[in-house]
Amino acid sequence: MDPATFDRERHVAFLEMMLERLPEEYESQEINRLTIAYFVISGLAVLDALDRVNKDQLVRWVLSFQEHPKSDADLKNGQFYGFGGSAPPNTLVDGERVSGNNCSHLASTYCALAILKIVGYSFSNCCIEPILVSMRELQLPDGSFMPIHTGAEADLRFLYCAAAICFMLNNWTGMDKTKAKEYILKCQSYDGGFGLVPGAESHGGATYCAVSALHLMGYLETAIISKFSQRCVIDVPLLVEWSLQRQSVDGGFQGRANKPSDTCYAFWVGGVLKLLGGYHFCNKEALRSFLLSCQSKFGGFKKFPDITYPDLYHSFYGFSALSLLEEPGLRPLQVELGIPLLVAAGI
Ligand code: FPP
Ligand code: ZN
Repeated sequence: MDPATFDRERHVAFLEMMLERLPEEYESQEINRLTIAYFVISGLAVLDALDRVNKDQLVRWVLSFQEHPKSDADLKNGQFYGFGGSAPPNTLVDGERVSGNNCSHLASTYCALAILKIVGYSFSNCCIEPILVSMRELQLPDGSFMPIHTGAEADLRFLYCAAAICFMLNNWTGMDKTKAKEYILKCQSYDGGFGLVPGAESHGGATYCAVSALHLMGYLETAIISKFSQRCVIDVPLLVEWSLQRQSVDGGFQGRANKPSDTCYAFWVGGVLKLLGGYHFCNKEALRSFLLSCQSKFGGFKKFPDITYPDLYHSFYGFSALSLLEEPGLRPLQVELGIPLLVAAGI
């Protein structure tokens, strides 16, 4: 494979293959079916190849993962009624009964809604009220979110998912925004980056979640301006500095200090820089070379240049990172939502 060329056709063929049948290595990811589907569908959309997808069939399949309360009383039982990663028990999809054994999860719900949005499905046709009402129960008094209704860790990842869900549904009754903002601000570390929880080591993924959630909630602009009016909300210059420091000598981005460059952080950290207006400070040429060296001969992207196989997670974030670099043939992104910018009538 020519290391200087972005091989779009090969990547489209790779995602089409994944849409048809996943390699057996993904078997352990049964619970993450919607997340995997999001990587494939959003990936095809970034590659401007959504014509390969049967949209009606896809919408039916995604909606089959939604959990519905049996009555209004159920909505007060503390359970989250969103989308599960596997199909709920005894679901019929295209006449076939499939079984599942999981419960609704914020990440699966974010992925389901992102897919539906990408294919232009109108949320007015889907039952959104129970999602928003029951999602509030997942927010803890400190403002963070648990991903499921019981026994799980709460951190910035799930707060981000909750913010993205409210944004996509255009309804913020699903969360206490003020508390969520306070939690995010507590996660900024002394070095300018954000950790997943207050006091944790700064990390590219957590920093993306913090900055994107603030943006979706409409707080990012104020945060940037307040710094200059001496009402410091988040320290933006230190955050830009921390983000730029994540670009290594090989041109790629690392997720945290002293770690090797990895394809996905070119999106997580690159996206943060884009949202803050600091992207032009990074070395784009070196970043593109690094990313192209992570292309796989099978199509898709690898995590590192010197490994053999691609995976869907790094493929999607590789395409997204190259879209940030304005690679020809790729659609521009709505960075804070992790999907391509949609034109008025859907794509
Ligand atoms: C460290 O893994 C990974 C984390 C601390 C979590 C990162 C968070 C994200 C990628 C964001 C998730 C986004 C959404 C939208 C929910 P590691 O130690 O294997 O990675 P590293 O060695 O590269 O730091
Ligand atoms: Zn990675």
